Amino acid sequence: MHKRVGAGRLVRQATLRQLQVFDRVVKRGSVTKAAEELRLTQPTVSAQLKKLGDCVGGPLFEQVGRQLYLTQEGELLTRTAVEVLDALARFEMAVDNLNGLSTGSLSLGVVTTAKYFAPRVLGEFSRMYPGIEVALQIGNHSDVLQRLHENRDDLYIVSTVPIDLEDRFQPFMPNPVVIVASDDHALVGKRNIPLERLVQERFILREEGSGVRRAVEAMFEGAGLELHTRMALSSNEAIKQAVVSGLGIGALSLHSVRNGGVQDRLRILDVRGFPLQRQWHVGYPAGKQLSVVAEAFRDYLFRQGRIMTANWEEAGVWAQACMAQSEAQPPAVD
Ligand code: PGA
Repeated sequence: MHKRVGAGRLVRQATLRQLQVFDRVVKRGSVTKAAEELRLTQPTVSAQLKKLGDCVGGPLFEQVGRQLYLTQEGELLTRTAVEVLDALARFEMAVDNLNGLSTGSLSLGVVTTAKYFAPRVLGEFSRMYPGIEVALQIGNHSDVLQRLHENRDDLYIVSTVPIDLEDRFQPFMPNPVVIVASDDHALVGKRNIPLERLVQERFILREEGSGVRRAVEAMFEGAGLELHTRMALSSNEAIKQAVVSGLGIGALSLHSVRNGGVQDRLRILDVRGFPLQRQWHVGYPAGKQLSVVAEAFRDYLFRQGRIMTANWEEAGVWAQACMAQSEAQPPAVD
């Protein structure tokens, strides 16, 4: 029989961090995932859970096989944890408002491909801080760097960071690039396709100045190969349309492949060296002083980046991109 919890015992012995750890483990369903998200080690997470369980009067989880189940105490604590953490988040927001987030503006310059997540994240931020006026400027990689050099926005989101800006930008989420074809293309389902084979194909690429295009061209150049471009289009959605119409194969960020139209007719090819492992970065030019609003948005973006990455992991999106082959695979292509 577990000991009863005396009034005030949790207040004296438990910590808010333990409550947050518990809440993350409940939401992620796994100590490992919660540890990653909170940037803690697994033993630390387990120790925090144990301490919280001791304060509550009994273990919060039972492990059966590899699966975690909430005990009765754990079930009861779940709602309290959510309520306490929500109340604290609301309080933090209220204090932020006092400290200068009640009014102001935020201009964000982002590359074209970031349109699959940036408007949503900015929209959520603006709902939290309704007094802040937000603007989103979208252009390709070159356009955004131009805006940065002219100091026209508060923050910038790009994937490839120029060397001279490396200390001003930080990664917040993966941005892999994959090669796609229409579902009836001869290379669909082939394994380990060498780059040499791809140069026989016609590519539908983004326009000059696009970051994805640059990254893919650099990869082929590095292998001493030249891509044959059939068409350059300034929109990822237009590339998808052209690819499913059979005009050629495309190179796209996985964000584009997963969102928007026609993705059910696109197939990711299993090409050697792909997906290109890239990251989204957020930053600002040297010498710029970040406003309170820009700093708050950057922190929010880091949090959202962790959540979006975890969601993709959970949905098996990485695995899907890395093992693009169909089940009935012919032998490797030479
Ligand atoms: P782009 O940039 O939209 O200009 O291609 C995106 C990226 O670099 O991934």
